[in-house]
Amino acid sequence: YNEEEKSDDYLFKIVLIGDSAVGKSNLLARYARDEFYPNSKSTIGVEFQSQKMDIDGKEVKAQIWDTAGQERFRAVTSAYYRGAVGALLVYDISRRQTFDSIHRWLNELHTHSDMNVVIILVGNKSDLKDVREVSIAEGKALAEEEGLFFMETSALDSSNVTAAFQTVVKEIY
Ligand code: GTP
Ligand code: MG
Repeated sequence: YNEEEKSDDYLFKIVLIGDSAVGKSNLLARYARDEFYPNSKSTIGVEFQSQKMDIDGKEVKAQIWDTAGQERFRAVTSAYYRGAVGALLVYDISRRQTFDSIHRWLNELHTHSDMNVVIILVGNKSDLKDVREVSIAEGKALAEEEGLFFMETSALDSSNVTAAFQTVVKEIY
């Protein structure tokens, strides 16, 4: 990114993607407002949240976009991805099916966004250890294979939530 784009008022567009109910909206709620909804409903359309971030002592602003994992509730795909410079690609460690979908989401992301988009693979619900279906090693291996950052998070107990968003913005910036 050139110096102009690095100016203080530059908004980094970050998109959240992944299957329904993996916790995308709760990751955003935890990160932006320190809130958690035990019974949240599926997102309909698109929601945004602008968030100031402190990166190495400088203030930058991220605009985080959240949409539904389910096709029928989703916004227009191309508009959702347009201009995105970062993405959190989320699965649920307690549901293998959501991990199996990652390749499909990656394909869609690569089809609709810039080649240089910074991506972090996020294994959410790390608090659900007793019902884990995807190991940390599997998450790491997939991330390495695809050249993605990787982190396990929990929107419920807050672990690594800020770190996941910061990792993406730091790399863009
Ligand atoms: P869509 O909008 O349908 O795509 O779903 P989503 O990915 O936004 O999922 P959402 O944030 O609505 O969360 C789905 C369910 O998982 C809700 O009941 C949340 O309370 C729960 N949930 C989200 N994050 C966590 C987490 O880290 N741990 C646990 N145990 N539950 C979580
Ligand atoms: Mg949602």
